[in-house]
Amino acid sequence: MKINTASFVISNSDVSKCPKERLPEYAFIGRSNVGKSSLINMLTGQNKLAKTSGRPGKTQLINHFKINNNWFLVDLPGYGYAKVSKSVKRTFQSFIKNYFLQREQLICSFVLIDCRHEPQKVDLEFMEFLGESEIPFSIVFTKSDKLKLSELNRNIESYVKKMTSTIWQEMPPYFITSATSSNGKEELLNYIEEINNGLDKNL
Ligand code: GTP
Ligand code: MG
Repeated sequence: MKINTASFVISNSDVSKCPKERLPEYAFIGRSNVGKSSLINMLTGQNKLAKTSGRPGKTQLINHFKINNNWFLVDLPGYGYAKVSKSVKRTFQSFIKNYFLQREQLICSFVLIDCRHEPQKVDLEFMEFLGESEIPFSIVFTKSDKLKLSELNRNIESYVKKMTSTIWQEMPPYFITSATSSNGKEELLNYIEEINNGLDKNL
């Protein structure tokens, strides 16, 4: 799929104030600094669409971006960011969870995982929450440019092993990406396109 238009629509911390249009949407979630906002910029080919930063905690709201006038990409704050106060963390966590539990237009979530790291408890627990809530998700391994191919393959293999030896019978669909080299762009966009094409027009 080609992205012809991508524009920012609205930011907020309240799922009831998200766009009312019944368009399919896809949300990016994961730890702070994993590369959620950078991935949105890479997919849309617009460097400054979503705000990115080397310092974790940049995205603090639910951000809707309208794509090709008929679906949304959603950038979310990171979970597991240690440098904010406990009360701020709780507020983040509650509006993020409300978004996942209440947003009817949410078709698929992408859980972003930094391909350099061992499986982390906070990510595994978040995926467990999605599974228990019957919210479909896929995994996106980010920053693949930072590893040699052999290391990358080894890490992905051990991630798959960890997931399938714990609570998951099957590995969810997964993608390997880099916002720097655009690795995985086509695969991810084609995956979204396929889902969009299979949807009933009236969500
Ligand atoms: P929060 O909004 O804080 O939750 O972070 P985020 O997940 O949106 O991360 P963001 O996109 O802001 O990127 C964090 C840092 O990682 C930035 O310095 C990016 O330039 C860098 N980064 C993101 N993706 C990649 C990638 O694929 N490769 C490399 N080398 N750096 C990346
Ligand atoms: Mg961000």
